[in-house]
Amino acid sequence: MSEKIEAKENLKPKELKNISSKQVEYHFDTHYKGYVTKINEIWGKLENADRSKANQNYSDFRELKVEESFNLMGVVLHEYYFENLSSTENKISENMKKAIINDFGSFEKWLEDFKAVGTAFRGWSILAFDLNIGKLRNYGADAHNMYGIWNAIPVLVLDVYEHAYYTDFGPKRAPYMDAFINNINWSVVEKRYTKSLNAYAALK
Ligand SMILES: [Fe+2]
Repeated sequence: MSEKIEAKENLKPKELKNISSKQVEYHFDTHYKGYVTKINEIWGKLENADRSKANQNYSDFRELKVEESFNLMGVVLHEYYFENLSSTENKISENMKKAIINDFGSFEKWLEDFKAVGTAFRGWSILAFDLNIGKLRNYGADAHNMYGIWNAIPVLVLDVYEHAYYTDFGPKRAPYMDAFINNINWSVVEKRYTKSLNAYAALK
């Protein structure tokens, strides 16, 4: 039997500040759930895909594996994104702030860089703990499966696809990013950071 996952309804954010329920509903119910449906469909088809016809130029097997990476990362990154959004829990702890200052020089420098990545890329701005270097870094992605860094654990994920903000902000990405910043669930971010540090210690 092929692997199957379900959408995590409990991650749907409620009553955010300056991001409407309609915007969240479209994003969660149409886009996120769409990736869940497709990854299940792909995994089902991969079970019986003809590996003997695998070909790098074109083959059904290749197309399934390429879209597996797109849809699986679509699920994973959206789950990180929705989970790190909340209208409460918005205060950053001294501990988390110190970690950011250590790796970026100052909190302001981090934020400037994080927003610049969100402006420069077409899909995602991600604060990640990079296990390759043992530090926090901002990385961008044009699509769910494009320019990701292997061994970097997402700690804070910002979706900058148009579908994340057009309902509320039209083409204006900057005010959406500001709204996002005001809705960051820093306690979730800190939990992920602590887990990343543990993973780094275990790998050393
Ligand atoms: Fe999205």
